Amino acid sequence: MGELADKFPSQSVDRILGSEGTEMIITKELSLPAGDELVFKTIKKLRILLEEVFFKEVKYKNANYSPTLEHSLRTTIHIPDLAKRIGEDVHTAVLVALLHDIGKKETPNRVIFNSHKRKGQEKGAITRLKNPWLCDDRVGHLQRGQEILEKLGLTKIAKNVGHSHEKLDGTGYKRLKGNEILKIALMIKVVDTIDSFSMNPEFVTDRGAGIEELKSLLSDANKYDQEIVEIVMQDLDRYFFKN
Ligand SMILES: [Fe+2]
Ligand SMILES: [Fe+2]
Repeated sequence: MGELADKFPSQSVDRILGSEGTEMIITKELSLPAGDELVFKTIKKLRILLEEVFFKEVKYKNANYSPTLEHSLRTTIHIPDLAKRIGEDVHTAVLVALLHDIGKKETPNRVIFNSHKRKGQEKGAITRLKNPWLCDDRVGHLQRGQEILEKLGLTKIAKNVGHSHEKLDGTGYKRLKGNEILKIALMIKVVDTIDSFSMNPEFVTDRGAGIEELKSLLSDANKYDQEIVEIVMQDLDRYFFKN
């Protein structure tokens, strides 16, 4: 476990969870006075949840990495700037991004690691190249994530997590439509989609084609919030994860 524990991205996770912004949001969510012990206990529980996702995945067939946690951290990186620009609370949005796939702690690894195999790859080998669309257990991980966070009393964050894969026309996992979907969740959806594209094996080798296809997908105003998409489009390449 020692060696694996070293791979847990403690610095990134602790920087977010240990920030004053996180403390402020959790205090507000739990309606507690500043500095209350329960706030710090809740933050500690969030870290444990992220560790659980990490250790479940990292040990799978010597995978040695956690696709879910890496994806969540990559998604989180872009959120502060985007949230500021659309006028949403930055700290809430960052926590939603970090925790949006927390429900995958209960998704079987064979589903998470349902990867595309590269040509000539040995049977059973695990590639880092995978399509996160195939990693989803659809509505299941969202529902579980929402429930886990609700149990901690984090109602607003939980609701946003539950909405984070919705599309405006009601074709998302929960079939919510338009204004029923929370804005932070719509933002996570856009950034999450970009990360999925950037990890798609097809587009890892042909980045230009990936970006073009992504542009046409995101420009669908029936599905994606165009206020968010317009901001992202101004610098799409920055959002596209470089493998
Ligand atoms: Fe997800
Ligand atoms: Fe995701």
